[in-house]
Amino acid sequence: MIKFKGFFVTVLALNVIVVQIAMASVISTGDYNKDFFVEWSPSHVNTSADGGTRTLRLDKESGARFASNDMFLFGQFDMQIKLVPGYSAGTVVTFYLLSGQPNHDEIDFEFLGNVLGQPYILQTNVFTSGMGYREERITLWFDPTVEFHTYSIHWNIHQIVFMVDSIPIRTYRNHADKGVGYPRSQPMPVMASIWDGSDWATGGGRDKVNWSKAPFIASYGSYKMDACVWKGNPRVCEEANSENWWNQESWSSLTGVQRRFLKWVREYHMVYDYCQDNERFNGSLPLECSLP
Ligand SMILES: *[C@@H]1O[C@H](CO)[C@@H](O)[C@H](O)[C@H]1NC(C)=O
Ligand SMILES: *[C@@H]1O[C@H](CO)[C@@H](O)[C@H](O)[C@H]1NC(C)=O
Repeated sequence: MIKFKGFFVTVLALNVIVVQIAMASVISTGDYNKDFFVEWSPSHVNTSADGGTRTLRLDKESGARFASNDMFLFGQFDMQIKLVPGYSAGTVVTFYLLSGQPNHDEIDFEFLGNVLGQPYILQTNVFTSGMGYREERITLWFDPTVEFHTYSIHWNIHQIVFMVDSIPIRTYRNHADKGVGYPRSQPMPVMASIWDGSDWATGGGRDKVNWSKAPFIASYGSYKMDACVWKGNPRVCEEANSENWWNQESWSSLTGVQRRFLKWVREYHMVYDYCQDNERFNGSLPLECSLP
């Protein structure tokens, strides 16, 4: 009996150790109530009883936003989102990282709603030191309003990779040594929101929110934050050790398979790339546009 108990305890202890190793750097609990706080309009936020899913509502009165309790410097952030069904023109649903003002850094997923029959547009952007003119826009290869899909920001000392269901849709490389801005010193919380972008989001402001179709509801599902929690010392987060696996050499560039997917997305789904907008930049594109 005692022997049996002893054996049982050993197996249990082993399990605990294995789980701890595998989860060494995952700092999220999966419970919205524990990892995030509602920053804007609690009356427009609903969280499931188990804390595992959350909805944000936009109506004539208000939108809504929540933010993580912790701030991070590098890591991977995965968020499941189901977008506003039906007529969603003028609405903007977001998932992003944002440092404090002024001269802030920001890494954005912005989902731009549309009129019926027209696809959602996914805009990504990177701000460095308060400058954000780096928009890219793509259409998705599925209807993002029907089911949850996973949107990921992988941010390390070498590059930022935006992913949709693990497929890279964009990279932004660290060329700070050549004078290109890169978010690498300011910690950022994870944020998500829904708001009225009538003046720019759809057709450059042509199609506005139609309030007779409100409320507009976006759903957030499972999420994971596997990242370096900011405790005041940037060196801890810059290290490329097993804890900060995202900083390791193997994550400094895409794999061959990832590269092929990225090429496919850019060939068939890209609708706007600031690096091809000569007119906007009077013929002198930002420096990073000519770097590999
Ligand atoms: C939250 O739930 C209440 C009651 O079911 C509902 O009236 C409200 O519209 C919901 N809000 C959101 C943001 O889904
Ligand atoms: C808004 O939606 C309502 C109801 O579908 C429709 O009657 C109205 O024409 C729409 N307004 C605009 C400006 O499109």
